[in-house]
Amino acid sequence: MNVTVIGSGYVGLVVGACLAETGNRVICADVDAEKIKSLNAGQVPIFEPGLDRLIERNLAEGRLEFTSEVEKAARHRQVIFIAVGTPPGEDGSADLRHVLDVAATIGPNISDGTIVITKSTVPVGTASRVREEIERHTDVSFHVCSNPEFLKEGAAIDDFMRPDRIVCGVESDEARVVLQELYDPFVRSGNPLIFMDIPSAELTKYAANAMLATRISFMNQLALLCEATGADVNRVRKGIGSDPRIGRSFLYAGAGYGGSCFPKDVRALIHTGDEFEVDLTILRKVHEANERQKTLLGEKARERFGEDFSGLRFAIWGLAFKPETDDMREAPALALIDQIVEAGGRVVAHDPVAQDVARELDLGERVEFAADEYAACDSADALFVVTEWFQYRRPDWQRIRDAIRNPIVFDGRNLFEPRRMRDLGYEYYPIGREQVR
Ligand SMILES: NC(=O)c1ccc[n+]([C@@H]2O[C@H](COP(=O)([O-])OP(=O)(O)OC[C@H]3O[C@@H](n4cnc5c(N)ncnc54)[C@H](O)[C@@H]3O)[C@@H](O)[C@H]2O)c1
Repeated sequence: MNVTVIGSGYVGLVVGACLAETGNRVICADVDAEKIKSLNAGQVPIFEPGLDRLIERNLAEGRLEFTSEVEKAARHRQVIFIAVGTPPGEDGSADLRHVLDVAATIGPNISDGTIVITKSTVPVGTASRVREEIERHTDVSFHVCSNPEFLKEGAAIDDFMRPDRIVCGVESDEARVVLQELYDPFVRSGNPLIFMDIPSAELTKYAANAMLATRISFMNQLALLCEATGADVNRVRKGIGSDPRIGRSFLYAGAGYGGSCFPKDVRALIHTGDEFEVDLTILRKVHEANERQKTLLGEKARERFGEDFSGLRFAIWGLAFKPETDDMREAPALALIDQIVEAGGRVVAHDPVAQDVARELDLGERVEFAADEYAACDSADALFVVTEWFQYRRPDWQRIRDAIRNPIVFDGRNLFEPRRMRDLGYEYYPIGREQVR
């Protein structure tokens, strides 16, 4: 099949590479000419395990190409995916500017029967707006579909190749047949390819992210109650997670959720509710609880060190919003860095892959980066663990003790056992568990 993917970010690149891998001829287009130049030179601008090899192979075999000529990429194609960003607008709604720009760009260039698929996460009603925008520029007949993406950064290739489910909102049999053919190679193990109407598909994506965010905020609030009552949130998690009605996933208390999806999608769904006069009270609280949770490590540090951090230097392990990605959008580490810097402290941060992204954010002169996690602890007054990278999970505590000024650890991911930390001579502040003072 001839497939065009417009928007070559985390989602567009994964979709393009995986569809090329199954034999389609794929063009990935993007307005960012620099990005396209580096992709054509074999450099993948994001960190996503396995993606570089997939792109390299499919480029070499001629099934995948990259272009910044978006109009051309839309011509004579059977399927066009829109995979551009939908960042939050000031009022929390999804900003559809890029999606509608793409619709306007492809409008004059699409062919009779082209299937235009929104892959971006977009609110209910967007497919109709995409249709209207394209119709302003063409008389040919075409199909619109909604095919939200559920991949997780860090495991994106596997999620796309072996999805739990694929959701397709369609309004014509022709589109349904093409999507079935396109996705057949990915659902051979029997996982469902679920067809539905377009509004339901659009809403399904938000519902999924909002549900997961709700579980996290629920556990984070329980963690606060655990701290107040002497219970241990890890034990509570095991106790409830083994109930099959609840399940084990997404029950980890921590420093709050971040990334490019949960925060913006929860806010966008609240906004959609407002537009339709349905007050999504649960989600308002989920968002509020998360905003507070992101400041919890900083609050714990304030309790320990006082309001003024002048002269203090803090090591931070982990900048990416989760392991196996370099994505720092809405990362909890950013909230912590703000708190430390505002209180007059200094930060020495380490992240195995997100340091380059962090440097570009220009976090100010009080934030430096360390060559490795142990160097970050050199003369530090405390260590904060914010992202649960594997290499942080069994550290050499003696080496840290030799480097650090005060053996104090604030653990935003509950990686260590309070008792063991006490035996090792550390002060230890996890989330929702015994604090070792
Ligand atoms: N990142 C994720 O984990 C994830 C998962 C599922 C769904 N999504 C959704 O997928 C969409 C894309 O997310 P992302 O993380 O890949 O975004 P991204 O910011 O990494 O990439 C978006 C790309 O679109 C390009 N672009 C913007 N306007 C364009 C235009 N008019 N024409 C061509 N290209 C244009 C940008 O230059 C950029 O390269 C969003 O709606 C997001 O919510 C993301």
